[in-house]
Amino acid sequence: MAFEWQRICYGCRSMQICRRGCHMEPKKNKANVLIVDDEIGPRESLRIILKPHYNIFTAENGFTALQILKQQEIDVVTLDLRMQGMSGIETLKEIRAIDPDVMVIIITGYGTLNSAIEAIRYGVFDYIPKPFNVPEIICIIEKSVQRRRLNQRVKEMVRERGGGEFCIDKETTVDAPLFQNIHGGYEFEKEEAGSREFQNCLEFSKVLASTLEEKDPYTSGHSERVCYYADFISKKLSLNPRDRNEIRIASYLHDIGKIGISNRFINKKGALSTTEWSIIKQHTRKSLELLIPLNLSPNILSYIHHHHERYDGTGYPDGLTGESIPLGARIIAIADAYDSMTSERPYRRPLSDSDAKNELIKYAGKQFDPQLVSIFLEILREMENLFSVNDPFRPSSISVC
Ligand SMILES: [Fe+2]
Repeated sequence: MAFEWQRICYGCRSMQICRRGCHMEPKKNKANVLIVDDEIGPRESLRIILKPHYNIFTAENGFTALQILKQQEIDVVTLDLRMQGMSGIETLKEIRAIDPDVMVIIITGYGTLNSAIEAIRYGVFDYIPKPFNVPEIICIIEKSVQRRRLNQRVKEMVRERGGGEFCIDKETTVDAPLFQNIHGGYEFEKEEAGSREFQNCLEFSKVLASTLEEKDPYTSGHSERVCYYADFISKKLSLNPRDRNEIRIASYLHDIGKIGISNRFINKKGALSTTEWSIIKQHTRKSLELLIPLNLSPNILSYIHHHHERYDGTGYPDGLTGESIPLGARIIAIADAYDSMTSERPYRRPLSDSDAKNELIKYAGKQFDPQLVSIFLEILREMENLFSVNDPFRPSSISVC
């Protein structure tokens, strides 16, 4: 069906010729948000929720959304994945061709891990299953607006400095060249440590991890601190640069499979039921499903997959024992546990450093590699000042599930 597009009415946000005479210009100090959903109910409720805060545009299908994006600078798109005609993923690909920098949030009742993987590959900011709750959606939209503004500032700075390579920091969104570098194949063997490939992959991992952590304030900074602690252990073991880099990347991504698991279970106050526990345990497998298409090193994947194995063989997913558990997974297990214990959780205060150390000692040889626990405790002793309460790496955090 041919689409007769004239202009957007800024009063009623209609893509049709507005017959109400309510043409108004968008408010310049507000971000522009485009809601794409073929169901009028969610589309309208989201419009009503967001209207006080943003300039809102709506589209009932992908074609209309693309027309709007060609005519109007949009900061954030909320996109339904399951739509008649052009699907959400197809729309997302076209959106990226029109504006690679627009922030995209997937909001859908058709939430499968595969769709999440596909969406993440096209650089979505977040992924929220329907039904959404109002504070959560407002918070995520606002974060995406802030991220968009930060990205724009970074790019402006780069342009002002005469262009050159786009320098990606941890706050920067996944951009196409970055993904191409990763998806183009695993190249670490050919490269020196600190190479562009490694830096790209590490930054990509940070962005993926931040996508997970932004869903939950208790997870903020967790993966960065796990990386920080794990790398101290790697250094103490004198691992080669390639192994260290792989452990760092796996540290950032170790819980990425939780992106497909509701925070209701992850942060539940009180005991988990057998069913809830089995759902949470799936995150190691879900991580693999999410990351395999990205063509990461097999070592990285194995560290992530096995970070909940226990030294005595009672862990998951495969019940591996002792040194049959990959070294990187044994290192991450200790870093993960220490950070979780010393961070706030929804239902308890953080443990003191000495209590956390005692827990590591208590479970050395059962849950943890005893030699690595000794090494980590030695590091903590040596680096006491760095692990002080005022350390910026020590805000609140996450559960170890
Ligand atoms: Fe985990």
